[in-house]
Amino acid sequence: MKHLLTLSAAVILSLTASAQIRLSVHETAPDQPVIPREIYGQFSEHLGKCIYEGIWVGPDSDIPNVDGYRTDVLEALKALKVPVLRWPGGCFADEYHWRDGIGPRENRPKILNSNWGGTLEDNSFGTHEFLNLCEMIGAEPYISGNVGSGTVEELAKWVEYMTADKGSMADLRAQNGRKEPWKVKYLGIGNETWGCGGDMTADYYSDVYKRYALYARDFSGNHLYKVACGASGDDYNWTKVLMQRARDKMNGLSVHFYSVIDWNRKGSATDFTADAYYDILGKTVEIDELLRNHTAIMDTYDPQGRVGLLLDEWGTWFEVEPGTNPGHLFQQNTMRDAMVAALNLNIFNKHVKRLRMANIAQIVNVLQAMILTDGPRMLLTPTYHVFRMFNVHQGATLVPVEYSSGELRASSGRSCPDFSASASRDQDGIFHLSLANPDLERPQTVEIRFDDKKARTVSGEILRADKIQAYNAFGKEPAVAPAAFRGAKVTKDGITVELPPASVVVLAVR
Ligand code: AHR
Repeated sequence: MKHLLTLSAAVILSLTASAQIRLSVHETAPDQPVIPREIYGQFSEHLGKCIYEGIWVGPDSDIPNVDGYRTDVLEALKALKVPVLRWPGGCFADEYHWRDGIGPRENRPKILNSNWGGTLEDNSFGTHEFLNLCEMIGAEPYISGNVGSGTVEELAKWVEYMTADKGSMADLRAQNGRKEPWKVKYLGIGNETWGCGGDMTADYYSDVYKRYALYARDFSGNHLYKVACGASGDDYNWTKVLMQRARDKMNGLSVHFYSVIDWNRKGSATDFTADAYYDILGKTVEIDELLRNHTAIMDTYDPQGRVGLLLDEWGTWFEVEPGTNPGHLFQQNTMRDAMVAALNLNIFNKHVKRLRMANIAQIVNVLQAMILTDGPRMLLTPTYHVFRMFNVHQGATLVPVEYSSGELRASSGRSCPDFSASASRDQDGIFHLSLANPDLERPQTVEIRFDDKKARTVSGEILRADKIQAYNAFGKEPAVAPAAFRGAKVTKDGITVELPPASVVVLAVR
């Protein structure tokens, strides 16, 4: 077992010998899948300050905005290249009635957000505001339909309202300011229907799913990709039942997995030990086995791989920041979260034959967020930087990699690999390699060897911090920000990389 050290000791011991890693890049492997852009997807819920303040401040706000969307967040989201955005929940989705969120804002009803802190929801952000946002940032919308407390008719009409070019719903949409229908690809039919979305059994839900799916029609050249609500974590029976009973009627099946060790004691987002760090990493990499097992079940019923697996909620979930509403799930985001993101994204890249989408929870101000706001102030989190660095993989062709790694073990017995990597080749023939060294103490020397390719140049970016608990705070210089990486060089045999402890690096190899 690896001995765990406090961080101050770790800094001293970072002068110890590097671990040696050999990373083989098989760029000659034939028939590799394209990495769906949607693997780098996001999730936005009417929860705490995610929508209100985080994205939407309204056109009359003092906070600089474009038609009500705060300008700073909008620009940051464009730079992130958000491929897909899920909305309006989450648990909120199953109590959301879309008609509340259309028409003149002053006439929209004020409702209680009973899932999330009893906050007053004024519905000023609704269908138009969401779909226009997606157009502005170039993201594919992923609508999460209300099955728990809605009706088949309500969901059918919502789809028609958004996508039909004629008829009464199209007329109503035009009256509300939008003549042209939107394109809406992804439609989730219920969220967590085993829990907050209706407390159903898999058998019962599979029938409910089919009924809702039947009446969610394709209008005016729009093609829906219908997503059945999937399992909570390792509930493999749920996947099995849905695949047995409804696979022909679905395009995708979801799954949710949060990196939480004890739901009653989730721990601080910023104040944690090295042991707790390795423990969360050990938990988060369980996603690898989870995806493998769900995939194996889906392979049994759908050997052609037609139905996609969508991990449409994932990420860390810690205690809320002291003094904030416990129902608003506002947590800080440290270099530990960045490492969680990097390990997950490298794992997701490996699973793309079946995994077609992943949506981290959530985009702004909630759980493992990309962006935090405080009134007019905004900051980018360490997780944002990882997503921005990794977005080079979006739509690129997967390149298989091979390496052997050691283990970093927490006192709980959970462990994570001491090295993580994935690679892709983009349309210009540039190879991108994303590497992570989660070890708090030891640097790593990585010898990269391609099958055939002779590397000419290598450049890159690194994300690391003085300590793993480092985070970006309002009004202070960022403590975690990417920098140009100078630790990689081309050699006669390939590339040699010196990875500092607790760092994430993305390389471009030409
Ligand atoms: O992301 C927060 C909540 O977690 C979502 O609303 C729900 O789907 C899940 O339980």
